[in-house]
Amino acid sequence: MLDPKMEAAINGQINAEIYSSYLYMSMATWFDSQSLPGMAHWMRVQAQEEWTHAIKFYTYVNERGGRVILSAIDGPATEWDSPLAVFQAVAEHEAKVTGLIHGLMDLALEIRDHASSSFLQWFVNEQVEEEASAAEAVGQMKLAKDNPSALLMLDKDLATRVFTMPVWLVI
Ligand code: FEO
Repeated sequence: MLDPKMEAAINGQINAEIYSSYLYMSMATWFDSQSLPGMAHWMRVQAQEEWTHAIKFYTYVNERGGRVILSAIDGPATEWDSPLAVFQAVAEHEAKVTGLIHGLMDLALEIRDHASSSFLQWFVNEQVEEEASAAEAVGQMKLAKDNPSALLMLDKDLATRVFTMPVWLVI
C-alpha cells in the first residue's frame, strides 16, 4: 500500500508532468507561428514524452493500491523573444523538474519506501538525459542565433526527432 504522503506527492508530480506536456505544446505553437516547423515538431515529441512520464506515475500509483487524483493544470507561457529564449526556458523547466523528482526521492528515503525509491530511480536517470538534451539544444541555438541560414538548418535537423512509444507504457 502506498504511503498517503507519497501518494499525494506523486499526484502532484502527475500534475507537473502534464503541465510540462502542456508547456512544450505551447512552445510548439510558438515555433509554428515563427515558421520553424522542425522546432515545433521537436516540442510536440517532447510533449508526448511528458505524457508518458505522467502515465508512468499514474500506473505506479494504481499498482501500489493508491488513487490518482487529477488537479487543474496551470496555463503555460505563450510568447517568447527568440528560439534561444524558448530552449533556455526548456532548460530552466527541466532543472525545476529535476528538483521535484529529487524531492520525491528524498521523501521515499525518509519514509523508507523502498519500492518508490527504486521506481523513482528511473526518473532520476531520465532527468540527466532531459537536462543534457536541453543543454545541447541551447548550445546549438546560441551558435545559430544571429544566422538565419544556420537556424533553418537546425530546424531541419530538429524535425527528424522521433517519438518512440516506450515498451513499459500501459494505457
Ligand atoms: Fe518529465 Fe521533462 O521531465
